[in-house]
Amino acid sequence: MEAGGRVLQHFFNNKNLQISHKDGINNLVTEADHASEKAIFDTIRESFPDHFILSEEAGEIIMDSEYKWIIDPIDGTINFAHGIPICCVSIGIEHKGEMIMGAVYNPFLKEFFFAEKGGGAYLNEEKIHVSKQNEVIKACLVTGFPYTYIDMPNGPLECFERFIRKGIPVRRLGSAAMDLCWVAAGRFDGFYEHKLNAWDSAAGFLLVEEAGGKVTDFNGNKYSPYQPQILATNGNIHDEMITWIQGQQ
Ligand code: IPD
Ligand code: CA
Ligand code: CA
Repeated sequence: MEAGGRVLQHFFNNKNLQISHKDGINNLVTEADHASEKAIFDTIRESFPDHFILSEEAGEIIMDSEYKWIIDPIDGTINFAHGIPICCVSIGIEHKGEMIMGAVYNPFLKEFFFAEKGGGAYLNEEKIHVSKQNEVIKACLVTGFPYTYIDMPNGPLECFERFIRKGIPVRRLGSAAMDLCWVAAGRFDGFYEHKLNAWDSAAGFLLVEEAGGKVTDFNGNKYSPYQPQILATNGNIHDEMITWIQGQQ
């Protein structure tokens, strides 16, 4: 975590940062993403050379192991590339298909979020808990939008419009891992997004669950980071949020 965080700090606000593009004109990858990934891999390999790794830029490093590390070397790359300090390193560990540890580190805000299955959720070693809000109309929400637009019923813009038309604040931080940690810390009451990858949510979803919240897909099914939709809330507003997202309001 610290190794990745140091790389982010090193490259932050660097005017000569090398940037290239993935699918979609704004889907960026910078030299800092690769350097952070390498620093994290080197650290993991020192102690766990035979563990499976899934990481955004390198893809799958397949090993015959019960343990899988799921890594986003920079979540919030667009923010990072624009000098906006809302970005982080996100690392989850899965054991036999179950998420057992989640860690998210924002070196600029000096916030380290950590959760172990069954052990609660922590921000800089202080225990954190989701909010107590129990009405969507009074909630503070956060969402994210994919780099390539999804044209579907109840897509990202339709859902966003529904909340905004009722005057419900819906923020857009630009880092799904931070969104989830901020739900865990009770700053947001709920987060939803239509299309994430496993590395965006693996660590953050365990943080929300361990902070007392609930995480599912848009139909209320058990969450898997290997499908795109995520709804993460304080639990109290979860069922009502599903009706808003499904357009039943
Ligand atoms: C992105 C961020 C963003 C979300 C995108 C992700 P990246 O990750 O988490 O908040 O809306 O869907 O791809 O590209 O910055 O690692
Ligand atoms: Ca990401
Ligand atoms: Ca990333």
